[in-house]
Amino acid sequence: MSIYTNVDHFRSIETPFYYYDVALLQKTIRRAQEALGKGPYQIHYAFKANSNRRILNEVLSFGLGADCVSGNEVNRAIETGFDPNHILFAGVGKTDKEIKMGLEHEIFAFNVESLQELKVLEQLSGVTGKKIRFALRINPNVDAETHEYITTGKRDNKFGITLEELNLAIPLIKSLEHAKFIGIHFHIGSQIMDLSKFKELVDRCNEVQRLLLDYSFELPHINVGGGLGIDYDQPEANSIANFKGYFDCFKKNLVLLPNQTLHFELGRSLVAQCGSLIARVLYIKPAEQTSFMILDAGMTELIRPALYRSFHFIENLSSHESHEGSVVYDVVGPICETSDAFARSLLLPETKRGDILAIRSAGAYGEVMASQYNLRKIAPSIFSDDFK
Ligand code: LLP
Repeated sequence: MSIYTNVDHFRSIETPFYYYDVALLQKTIRRAQEALGKGPYQIHYAFKANSNRRILNEVLSFGLGADCVSGNEVNRAIETGFDPNHILFAGVGKTDKEIKMGLEHEIFAFNVESLQELKVLEQLSGVTGKKIRFALRINPNVDAETHEYITTGKRDNKFGITLEELNLAIPLIKSLEHAKFIGIHFHIGSQIMDLSKFKELVDRCNEVQRLLLDYSFELPHINVGGGLGIDYDQPEANSIANFKGYFDCFKKNLVLLPNQTLHFELGRSLVAQCGSLIARVLYIKPAEQTSFMILDAGMTELIRPALYRSFHFIENLSSHESHEGSVVYDVVGPICETSDAFARSLLLPETKRGDILAIRSAGAYGEVMASQYNLRKIAPSIFSDDFK
């Protein structure tokens, strides 16, 4: 039985807070690993989706690697106990200090996003005397058809090296004395529901690989990033993402040579559905068209609806027995911004002050994107096994 059907679990706890279902997290990672199967494959968990220490401990216990995008994420990975040899460091704007930190920890590889960055890596590798391994992030010009803010693989996005620039990259890589080229990296965006987009990525990846092999580069590592989407509309019915369809697309279509390893960087699909933002209803305020349902959680705890107008399923955990009828609400937070709304014109069971709501699928890009705007406190996190 879902914990969400028993509001008593939550009634005595101060809201808002993030709630994580540990069993679902474990089941999700297990399903992903089963769907991928055995082979020269490695999943790196994208820390940016959720870097809560308890979540990271769970991820680590399944043997996943770490995909980091800041020096602090690299540090967190080391602190958590991830093997440096399983840590990747990506991002368009790595500072010298962050690069040196990665070098000191002798992480597995840097995903290099520009020729300018590559020159800095080469120089720092020479200065520190540490051999640096890097993969070239290629911008494959594939439109992932997701929200424009989380589309990363189009030519005009800031990420990676365009196919045209690759011609300039080749002589530069050949001239390197310290940095070691180990492979190619791609990531076309996030919350991608149309698997044919990954097939387009594979086609580009095969082309790039062929070109580089023609130049006699060895490419032991192919990294196709993350991006697999989840069902925000029906988190209960579809709590596990389509890992099988996703992995099969790469396994069937990507040319993988005998000495190559295929890497994935999954974030959202591993952690989104296990998390909810739990909030209390402060006021029901009648308005002209709808009623405002004002919660004690807002864009400071979950910014996705305000930033991307994304929908998160909202469940009134208190309404099961007593509250009849259905009412149209604008579900809003307490922050002084009109964008601080979780949903507009949403039909929900009649709701009263004090009711407890779960805003679902908040496990990815929820807690990590929290802010202290309006001088609010960062909400705590609570885990299902805290209730045992
Ligand atoms: N690898 C790279 C290079 C990335 O930039 C990302 C996400 C991932 C992997 C993981 O992608 P995932 O499997 O989670 O889709 N804040 C936005 C999402 C931003 C995603 C950024 N990059 C949101 O709330 O939808």
